[in-house]
Amino acid sequence: MALDWLDLTGKVAFVTGSGHGIGAGIAEALSAAGAKVIVSDINEEVGSATASRLGAPNIPLDVTDREAVDRTLARVASEFGALDVLVNNAGIYRGFGGPIATITDEMWQKLWAVNVEGLFYCCRAAARIMVAGGRGGRIINIASTQSVSPGVGVTYDGSKGAVLQITRSLALELGPKGVNVNAVAPGATWVMDMPAPPLTGVVPPPTGDALADTVASRIARIPLGRWGQPIEVGKACLFLASGMADFITGVYLPVDGGWLVE
Ligand SMILES: NC(=O)c1ccc[n+]([C@@H]2O[C@H](COP(=O)([O-])OP(=O)(O)OC[C@H]3O[C@@H](n4cnc5c(N)ncnc54)[C@H](O)[C@@H]3O)[C@@H](O)[C@H]2O)c1
Repeated sequence: MALDWLDLTGKVAFVTGSGHGIGAGIAEALSAAGAKVIVSDINEEVGSATASRLGAPNIPLDVTDREAVDRTLARVASEFGALDVLVNNAGIYRGFGGPIATITDEMWQKLWAVNVEGLFYCCRAAARIMVAGGRGGRIINIASTQSVSPGVGVTYDGSKGAVLQITRSLALELGPKGVNVNAVAPGATWVMDMPAPPLTGVVPPPTGDALADTVASRIARIPLGRWGQPIEVGKACLFLASGMADFITGVYLPVDGGWLVE
């Protein structure tokens, strides 16, 4: 019985930015629970590699292209029969950190275009489809511990704060229409093109990237004593996408090894 609640057989899930890193872990977790997962990434090469590994369809998408977002999610609903779960994972952060005086207009606009506007376009397209389809749905937005505990720079911290409030606003609006909207907030998660996650709180050598290095230096603060792994964020998304979370909406679920506990 308990396992039935986690079973996503017959559900169609679309995960943005799922070619690499956390998104690939989310796609893997939802696939393992039986969902038909559509892998999607702006980078066709990584999207196609992850899709083949999972035996899943791959539909490339740049979430900042609003027309492509509408077209792609409509295509998913017609080709696969529904859109039950949307995970807004696509996000950028490397190369966008630093003090406000060093942030250019281009840096600010580029990061917000992906992390906030792209997420908004996908939420809007999915909400239209889920409400019209009459079978409700789940929207899961990948926020960050920086949504509530800033510290890596105004550009990224601000964007992830916005993701949290968009989630809460949509939970209010879409709840009566059968769509649950929640946020998952990863802490430091080991995706930085390194071979394997360290199982201790070891601080990796500086990369020269201000934001990545700030995250790395804060590793010592994690009570569980290690970095997270993409599949661990995937498991939280699976929970929120499943029958385990039927009565949960508008929450912010940290997956951070306790980093937010001070
Ligand atoms: N890794 C961490 O420590 C961490 C911590 C907190 C939150 N997050 C969030 O998790 C999400 C995934 O981060 P990650 O660490 O796996 O990053 P990543 O760079 O490993 O993967 C992000 C993926 O998104 C894709 N992408 C980038 N721009 C896109 C666009 N415009 N349209 C579609 N796809 C696009 C990239 O090609 C890449 O495959 C992001 O929203 C990030 O802010 C990550």
